[in-house]
Amino acid sequence: MKPFDTHTHIMSERFDEDREALLAELFGNELISGLIEIGTEPGDLEAVKDLAEQYEKVWFAPGVHPHSASEFTDETEAHIRSLLKHEKAVALGEIGLDFHYDFSPRDIQREVFIRQLRIAKSLNKPVIIHSREAAAEMFETLKNENVNGGVLHCFSENAAHAEDILSLGLYIAFGGAITHKTRDELREAVKVVPLERLLIETDCPYMTPVPFRNKRNRPDFTMLTAEKIAELKNISVEEVIDITTQNAEKLFGINII
Ligand code: NI
Repeated sequence: MKPFDTHTHIMSERFDEDREALLAELFGNELISGLIEIGTEPGDLEAVKDLAEQYEKVWFAPGVHPHSASEFTDETEAHIRSLLKHEKAVALGEIGLDFHYDFSPRDIQREVFIRQLRIAKSLNKPVIIHSREAAAEMFETLKNENVNGGVLHCFSENAAHAEDILSLGLYIAFGGAITHKTRDELREAVKVVPLERLLIETDCPYMTPVPFRNKRNRPDFTMLTAEKIAELKNISVEEVIDITTQNAEKLFGINII
């Protein structure tokens, strides 16, 4: 069995040159079992939906990333609500707080994050959450909003924060960063997350795992993350792939295999 990548940005311009060839290789050679393509800004939501319509094993999530929170309008909300009715729309995302880059002012990030959490709740859809240098506020916000299902993607904090997030009933997704030499705290976090709450992802083209760090990330590199989790959990890679695929099926309500 091959890994399922729960977080990709294949529509990023960094795949413009070889997108179709790459997808043909991934699916033709069965390097992955499928993927979820994630929206980030009002202008890319149709494109992520189109990708999902084009490939059987591609699903999508429409949402506005904190970087683009300033672009969120009433029209964006209407668009997201309508896209979430699509049969291949599995979640609202990615949404959240990014206090590292602060590309949108923090007050606007907060407002747009909460607004999207409420949209997801009103439609009974899970959320895909991005959080960077915002751990304490993230936990408070999710708790106050009584979030009902979702995943904290590209987990980048310590084991204590992982436990906080787990206490809210959320899943935690790990990517290539767990293979990076200096990220011991992330490997400790992997150890405290029960198998039934784990997901794997690439966040490609970003976050490339060792040993390809100087290259563009791609969905089949989820295998490297699965291998690292297997090592940390002392189980087989097949088990990691099996359970994370089942978790994705459960959280996103889809049949992957
Ligand atoms: Ni992302």
